[in-house]
Amino acid sequence: MIRFKLLAEHESLPAHNKGTGVWFGAGALNVDIGQNPVLLLRSPDGSVGAALCSNDAANSYKQSIDDLLKTVLEKFERKGFQPSSLESAMLGGAENSKWKWVHLQKIAKKAFANLQEGENGGLYYRTISFETKSGVVTVARKKANPNDWNPASANLSLESGTKGFSEGNAGGVVANATRFFRQESTFKALREEVIPTHLRETPDQPFLFWSAACSAGAEAYSYAMYIHRTLARAGATCPFRVYATDINQTLVEGAKSGEYKVSKSDIANFKAYFQRYGTLEGDTVVFGKEIKQFITFGTFDLKQRPRKTGFRMVVCANVFQYYDDDARMHFLENFISAVTRPGYIFVGPTRDSTLRELGLRKLAKYNVLLAE
Ligand SMILES: C[S@@+](CC[C@H](N)C(=O)[O-])C[C@H]1O[C@@H](n2cnc3c(N)ncnc32)[C@H](O)[C@@H]1O
Repeated sequence: MIRFKLLAEHESLPAHNKGTGVWFGAGALNVDIGQNPVLLLRSPDGSVGAALCSNDAANSYKQSIDDLLKTVLEKFERKGFQPSSLESAMLGGAENSKWKWVHLQKIAKKAFANLQEGENGGLYYRTISFETKSGVVTVARKKANPNDWNPASANLSLESGTKGFSEGNAGGVVANATRFFRQESTFKALREEVIPTHLRETPDQPFLFWSAACSAGAEAYSYAMYIHRTLARAGATCPFRVYATDINQTLVEGAKSGEYKVSKSDIANFKAYFQRYGTLEGDTVVFGKEIKQFITFGTFDLKQRPRKTGFRMVVCANVFQYYDDDARMHFLENFISAVTRPGYIFVGPTRDSTLRELGLRKLAKYNVLLAE
């Protein structure tokens, strides 16, 4: 029988193995499982045991679990133990990798009838020591600073650092998910309100658009294609430019290449765009010069005062949820300073009191803010 022993938060365990793998043997198996869940297996006589853990990212996690499980079962079989005879338990995995827990649990329940479940969740890094002979697994937990680690669980203030965002894959999880044509209401606003207003008010001025916090850039290419198409359809002759910035330099550098793996649903929905503005081969789209020439990528922290001004629209999508009211207010002030009038701003969740204080009006139809 596997038994769990949870240490107090100030207690720790000795040096550990780390990463993705199967640790197999007799005696103490020491593994630094970080924010990932671990699967523990033990022969009924305790002569041998295993810890299986993967710190692989989203797209390869499931495959790595399948591979590791196959490897570990072969090891037990070579020692004469059938899967059905093994004791099994799982534990660990932080709040932000809940989906890993769910997947591992599904696989483990299918493979082992007697799966025991230990503590998991929370904002913790964990290390374990699995004593195969006694079946005792000792767990040490270290509280993570969400700001250094997983911004998805953070409530960042202006004073907080943003290492979790700027350093990309700190801890393997970062809230930088993005996709093509994501914020539907803003495309509608562009077509029905923002571009018509620009063409009416300042038809000869360049149309400047800012994708603030563009992540890997799918958003910037989406807006560039959409604006290009909408201006062309309107017979407009004004130049346009999409400025696309993010705090994460790695993402920004990747975005410049203009090459993306696209999902089946992206292809079904946006094939015409991909083929018009790039080349689509299999599941890869590569944007061409024709559209790249309208986009300027750069790194920029939203806490800084923008140097560039005159934007007709700023879109800062799926970012405000990670920040506190003080930071949201500061970012909004920065956007207001960067837009021309009337200027359109999309930011996601904000308090009505903040909008009143900043003199912004909400265009409910598009969920867009108007600076007049
Ligand atoms: C969830 S993604 C959203 C990407 C895109 N806007 C979208 O909606 O698909 C959040 C992005 O915000 C960026 N970010 C977070 N804090 C930032 C800051 N202070 N300055 C600039 N970018 C920031 C992150 O690096 C990440 O790429």
